[in-house]
Amino acid sequence: MTTMSTHPFLAACRREGTPYTPVWLMRQAGRYMEEYRKLRAQHGFLELCKNSDLAAEITVKPVEVLGVDAAILFADILLPLEPMGVGLEYTKGDGPVIHHPVSSRTHVEQLLEFDPQEALPFVFEAARKTCAALNGKVPLIGFAGAPFTLASYLVEGGGSRNYLKTKKLIYSNPGAWRGLMERLSSLTSEYLNAQIAAGAQAIQIFDSWAGCLSPDDYERFVLPYTRAAIAGLTPGTPVIHFSTGTGGFLKSVRAAGGDVIGVDWRINLDAAWDDLGSDVGIQGNLDPAALLAPPKEIRRRVAEILTRAGQRPGHIFNLGHGVLPETPVENVIAMVEAVHELSSR
Ligand code: CP3
Repeated sequence: MTTMSTHPFLAACRREGTPYTPVWLMRQAGRYMEEYRKLRAQHGFLELCKNSDLAAEITVKPVEVLGVDAAILFADILLPLEPMGVGLEYTKGDGPVIHHPVSSRTHVEQLLEFDPQEALPFVFEAARKTCAALNGKVPLIGFAGAPFTLASYLVEGGGSRNYLKTKKLIYSNPGAWRGLMERLSSLTSEYLNAQIAAGAQAIQIFDSWAGCLSPDDYERFVLPYTRAAIAGLTPGTPVIHFSTGTGGFLKSVRAAGGDVIGVDWRINLDAAWDDLGSDVGIQGNLDPAALLAPPKEIRRRVAEILTRAGQRPGHIFNLGHGVLPETPVENVIAMVEAVHELSSR
């Protein structure tokens, strides 16, 4: 009998044997999907996030269309920044913008304190409604940004290429930086624990931009805060710790915590797993651009990654980063089918 706790995705998180390699995609609910674009034509992005009925509908859709083994809550890593009072906006051309960026100790102290349950009730309502709609079919993944990636948006005022403002703050005002990271670390634990209480059966922490740092800076200025955020989570819920560009310091990423480490495509899966050690799970790591290739080539690349994983339990198949908006949905379906077929045991 398949109960929720023996679902292949959750079993793989615990490094137990599974009948096939479970698969889902980061950003599986998004612009590459026609159903999403239709809703987006009528509503702003934040409006969708704040409407728990629509957010739950968007969360469930890829499970139906793609046949993936997990749902990820439709929300955004930047939502918890809005109640801090920094002025979050999603603009058409430039992506997310923070209107009052953080550049000093005073700014850090001015960040508003809030209770996630009160300030972001729509996130937890969406989680509860999604669980009801999924009805045990696949687990729901809750998520948050890691303290570093959140801090980078707060300091840069949006996305960045070189993270110069962030690095300048770290190097010239380490006290302010540590104060900011402490705030974000406890916020992340609280926010994720509320998602777990609302029904999330696994958690992913996105440290998407940690790869801009040197190994030493990661260890000194990031690792302790990610570790505290993960250590503060309700025990018993598996945690996937994802980052990109961190192939040069995966051991430190692992030391910060997580039952499963998410890796990008810039390192071979077997090399990453050897470096991490076999007593931790791994998630990844197809190049998102591979989904622009014809299905036959996608299948070949899926087979290569499955071969690199070998028969070791604890592999969750995913892309190395989010699905690109240009991706044809048929190619995603071909990838999911290839993973299930070629890993069947
Ligand atoms: O994975 C999922 O399908 C769940 C929903 C989800 C979104 N964002 C929805 C979203 C998740 C897990 C995220 C995570 C997220 N958000 C990250 C970490 C993952 C990564 O890609 O590195 C980051 C860095 C963000 C911040 C963010 N949100 C950016 C930079 C942007 C604009 C650029 C972009 O990719 O669109 C967003 C907006 C956003 N978040 C959209 C979606 C579906 C697009 C909004 C739109 O419809 O215009």
